[in-house]
Amino acid sequence: MKKLFAMCLVLVMMLTAAASAEGNKLIVGASCDFPPYEYYDGDEIVGIEVEMLEVIAERLGLEFELQDMAFDSIIAAVTSGKIDVGMSGFTVTEERKLSVDFTISYTKAKQSVVVPAKDSKINEIDDLYTEGATYAVGVQNSTTGDLYITADVEDMGLLLDIQRFIKYPDAINALKSGKLECVILDDQVAKAFVAQNDDLKMLDTAYADEDYAMCLAKDNPLTEQINAVLQEMLEDGTMQAIIDKYITEE
Ligand code: ARG
Repeated sequence: MKKLFAMCLVLVMMLTAAASAEGNKLIVGASCDFPPYEYYDGDEIVGIEVEMLEVIAERLGLEFELQDMAFDSIIAAVTSGKIDVGMSGFTVTEERKLSVDFTISYTKAKQSVVVPAKDSKINEIDDLYTEGATYAVGVQNSTTGDLYITADVEDMGLLLDIQRFIKYPDAINALKSGKLECVILDDQVAKAFVAQNDDLKMLDTAYADEDYAMCLAKDNPLTEQINAVLQEMLEDGTMQAIIDKYITEE
C-alpha cells in the first residue's frame, strides 16, 4: 500500500514536472505581428489569443511568460521543449500534427489576398493562376499562406515570385513600396492591416477554411488541461466575448 502511494506520488510529481517547463510558469511562444490575435500596442502585447491565454493561465492557476519569436521557429521550440505552448493563430494541419499536438480549436479563419488599393494588376485570386503570371507574392515564412501557394507553384509549374518574410509588417511595407504585388495572409489579419493602411485593399474572395489551435509537444498532459478550459470558455461565452472585443462583423 505504502509502495503504491509512493509510486502515485512519483507519478504526480513527474506529471507536474512535464506540465510546465519552469515550475508553475507556462512559457508561450508567439509571433506578435498578427493583429487582432497577438500584436503590439505600444510596448504591450495584446490581442484575442493573449486575453484567451490570460484566462487559461488564471483558471489553471499558472503564471505565464509570452515570448515574441519568429513564426517559423515556434514548432521547433515546442518540440525541443524550449517553450511549452505555441500560440500564434496556428492553423491545424495534418502535416503539423506529425510533430506537435494541437488543442481543440477556438476559432476559424480563411486565407485572403491584400493588394494595393489603386491600379492593382491582381483583381481576383485566379489572376495568380493565369498562365505565365510572374507576380511578386509576399507571405510569412512557413505559414499556411506560404505552404499552399508554394505547393501550387510546384504542382502547377507557376512562375510566381514568392517572397518569404519573417514578420508581417515587413511584407506589408514591401507591398506598399511596390516591391510586392500582393500579400497572402489570414483574413482577420488582412482586415486589420488594411484598416491601418488606406493604400491597401483586400480581394473579395477568401479561400482555404482553417481552424486555429495552440500547439504543444506530443503527449504533454497540459494539452488536456488547456482543452478543458478552452471547452469551458467556448461554452460559457468567454471566448466569444474576447473575440467580440477585437472583431466587429459588419
Ligand atoms: N494561420 C496561419 C498558419 O498557421 C498563419 C499564422 C501566422 N501567425 C502569426 N502570429 N504570425 O500558418
